[in-house]
Amino acid sequence: MEWIVKDEKFHKNKIEHNGNKYLIGNGYMGYRGTMEEYTKDQLVACNLSNVYDKVGNKWREPVNAPNGLITRLYCNGEPMSVLSGEVLEHEQVLDIKNVVHKRHTIFTTSKGARVEVNSERFLSLSNIHLLCMKYSLRVSEPCSIVLETGIDADVWDINGPHLEELTLRVESDNLLAEAVTHEKRYEVVVAERIERTFGEETIERQQNSILRKISVKAEAGIEYSFVKYVSVFTAQDEEKDCSEAALRSNAVAVEKGYDQLFSDNKELWRQRWEKADVVIEGDDYAQLALRYSMYHLMIIAPTHTGRASIPARGLSGQVYKGAIFWDTEIFMLPFFLHTNPQIAKNLLKYRCNTLDGARRKASEYGYRGAFYAWESQDSGDDACTYFNVTDVFTGRPMRTYFRDKQIHISADVAYAIWQYYLMTGDESLLLEGGAEVIIECARFFYSYAYFNMGKNRYELLDVTGPDEYHERVNNNAYTNAMVRCTLEAVMKVIDLLRTKYKKEYDELEEKIYFEDDIDKLKDMLKRLYVPEPDASTGIIEQFDGYKRLEDITLKELKSRILNPNEYLGGGNGLATATKVLKQADVVLMLNLFKDRYSMEIKKANWEYYEPITEHGSSLSACVYALLAAEIGKVDWAYKYFMKTATIDLTGDSKQYVGTLYIGGTHPASNGGAWMAVILGFAGVNASQDVITINPRLPEKWESIKFKLVHEGQKFEVKITKDAVVIKADNSNSMEETFIIANEKIMCRSGDIKEIRYQ
Ligand code: BGC
Repeated sequence: MEWIVKDEKFHKNKIEHNGNKYLIGNGYMGYRGTMEEYTKDQLVACNLSNVYDKVGNKWREPVNAPNGLITRLYCNGEPMSVLSGEVLEHEQVLDIKNVVHKRHTIFTTSKGARVEVNSERFLSLSNIHLLCMKYSLRVSEPCSIVLETGIDADVWDINGPHLEELTLRVESDNLLAEAVTHEKRYEVVVAERIERTFGEETIERQQNSILRKISVKAEAGIEYSFVKYVSVFTAQDEEKDCSEAALRSNAVAVEKGYDQLFSDNKELWRQRWEKADVVIEGDDYAQLALRYSMYHLMIIAPTHTGRASIPARGLSGQVYKGAIFWDTEIFMLPFFLHTNPQIAKNLLKYRCNTLDGARRKASEYGYRGAFYAWESQDSGDDACTYFNVTDVFTGRPMRTYFRDKQIHISADVAYAIWQYYLMTGDESLLLEGGAEVIIECARFFYSYAYFNMGKNRYELLDVTGPDEYHERVNNNAYTNAMVRCTLEAVMKVIDLLRTKYKKEYDELEEKIYFEDDIDKLKDMLKRLYVPEPDASTGIIEQFDGYKRLEDITLKELKSRILNPNEYLGGGNGLATATKVLKQADVVLMLNLFKDRYSMEIKKANWEYYEPITEHGSSLSACVYALLAAEIGKVDWAYKYFMKTATIDLTGDSKQYVGTLYIGGTHPASNGGAWMAVILGFAGVNASQDVITINPRLPEKWESIKFKLVHEGQKFEVKITKDAVVIKADNSNSMEETFIIANEKIMCRSGDIKEIRYQ
């Protein structure tokens, strides 16, 4: 049961939410959880990773491919649709273990005949271009059935239309939709092919769709079914001819057959889960919510390329411009780093591949080095606009500074690349562009910094930290701490190259001339100001002057709200002049640098900031869960964990900022859910050469069991109320050090060690 997500009734008001909730994906594309009879009005989308388009001066956003699954059913001329028909039974099911979407509906006609429809769909992992569907129907009395199935090219766009020069044609049993994107003239091709054993077929072409019209005199009780293969190719793929490739892909699919493709896919998902699964005993809902969170991360992670990463709303649509934010590096990466480092590397390669975009942004603002985009797409140029929010009262665009001032993004990228090296011991990423990124980020910070002569220290002024309600502040603690980390990393990277990879060092020097900067960066590291805990209270001030802001409770702030969608930050936002923060900021810093701060400091800051955090971002709750677990507030940690882990199940999240729609899936929360369990409740803290485990399980959890990869060595860890059992994989080649209950444990291949911690 803890692998099944289900809705047992049809609710019109859940169409949009279920589109997100029942999303399937394979890293190349995401297909929303919509019914086969839906159109763009119900937000059907086959959302493509890394294919972006811009129309006029509207936002550039990812492209949705024509919908090859559209299927409309008529019984004696009446449409059988959940939108208009009489629905007797309806079930929508997501099997997250095998990654299959299922639908079961029984309609009744006006004359009382029952029409049962069952369908299932999956996206192939072995051929990422392929979407497969099985569709069947059965009637309770003889009826005349018409099915219209094919390709609907009238796609849902937020800032489109993106597809132009549409051609709809038939070639060797396939329906083909061929189009080009507006801006870059990228080809997008969808080929559809079906296998059926009943009825007569004619082809109908409408302006934006090409459909097979299948007619059959259906007999009572007989199942009529067909399978469908849909292949999607774009100019971003390496194929010379997208149409050829799509036809070939369908031909191979037909050859293999649906059942074989299905069972191959099942096996590939089994292998993926084998690396990642976490088993919680004693709490079925938490188990489901956690698996569901991991499901979402796995279906959207690009495994096929280092040129794409995970957008803030995954592959659930065009929301947030399909852009990649710091969400990936800080909130999603840990899951991949600890379970499937190859995917983590892919995600970071994306940052290496978009370094030029970050360089362009730095120079556009007059800085050196790399200033990564706040909203990054295929080229790494910033998709974030200067006026990113519209005031709900006046309808005027508001000048926001997300793009200009969230300089921490460059530090987040450098931090993540360095973490990859520390956790995997794999130097290849550094050599394939990672070292260059870290150096360029450090250089950017040097050029951004202000040297305060009076105080003899470097400061970072006019920045925005994670808490976006307070823009353009000085010395944001999180930002300064992350910059310090970048500077520490750059010194180590340069050292590593110099001592171990002289040739690569020389080549890089030849390319970007960094040697002259080394002393400057060293100096900056030595004299960078990072806000420290107050000597008497232990509180770390979020930024200079934060303590002078209006002291107000969250309740009081909320009572001042006039419009539920009003933006609380920006120039006139209600939170701007108060201490209320949008999302974890200092608390996030304490999580990332947990070894630098005492338990008392962590506790003091959690208790200080928690009541005044609005959690206006879905990135916030998991951070409070993590620190709460560490400081022993396990009940609080559980509450925040559940909020994070259930966000896409319940749909309980902010849908608008100003007039901007921000709905969709929440991969950062999904990553946060995993972190809350493994880094929070299990208390895993991995550093370069040691893994510390300090468990604090929620009351009702009997145990958790999970996998970990560290420096290429694989472990299975089981934590019960009083013991930790570690099994080292037989394939391990190195001994690993664990610290559990202050005891040092060495684990060699095949070892099983049990340590009591209570
Ligand atoms: C948050 C950012 C986040 C973005 C995308 C915003 O609401 O404040 O921190 O990166 O959403 O998830």
